[in-house]
Amino acid sequence: MTDLHPDIERILISEEDIQQRVAEIAAEIDRDYKDAGQVVLIGILKGAFIFTADLSRKIHVPHSVDFMSISSYGDTAESIGAVRLILDLRKPIVDKHVIVVEDIVDTGHTMNYLYQTLMGRGPASLKTCSLFKKNRDRLDVPLDYVGFDLPDVWVVGYGLDYADTHRTLPYIAELKKEVYS
Ligand code: IMP
Ligand code: MG
Repeated sequence: MTDLHPDIERILISEEDIQQRVAEIAAEIDRDYKDAGQVVLIGILKGAFIFTADLSRKIHVPHSVDFMSISSYGDTAESIGAVRLILDLRKPIVDKHVIVVEDIVDTGHTMNYLYQTLMGRGPASLKTCSLFKKNRDRLDVPLDYVGFDLPDVWVVGYGLDYADTHRTLPYIAELKKEVYS
């Protein structure tokens, strides 16, 4: 705890708690998909790359991993709700059992865009998974697997960034307000 980066206010979720929760989500997925045959995990770059790597290694049902990259307009803490597809999947998902793996859901615009886009491609089933969710009253998209609820602050670590920094911290930390506002 002594060497926290000066941008960081405090640690919100420890590395151990994240790893424990990821294992629980993997166990849920194993249970829900035990008779499904092949599952496709779609990790959303860049934020979910670490979560996708850890989750996929803890899942035992047969699965493959693919990635999409999505960008909101604006680089940092401003989200205006416009979502852009930067990089698409390598393979079609028609008739596949698909799970979208996101880092964090805030307004839900990104997950909603992903859900609509992927649903339009005719998967056998589509579920959503996000390790973190900020507390919102209303979301337009169903969330099937959620790791942790977070307060409405900007967080970094475990794949999540601020202007592409702090992604590789092993824990989830709250950024100091003066850094992002
Ligand atoms: P939404 O579209 O408002 O739900 O925002 C979701 C996207 O915004 C996520 O995929 C993240 O890339 C980003 N995001 C939202 N909140 C945070 C945060 O606190 N830290 C880092 N990224 C965030
Ligand atoms: Mg993201």
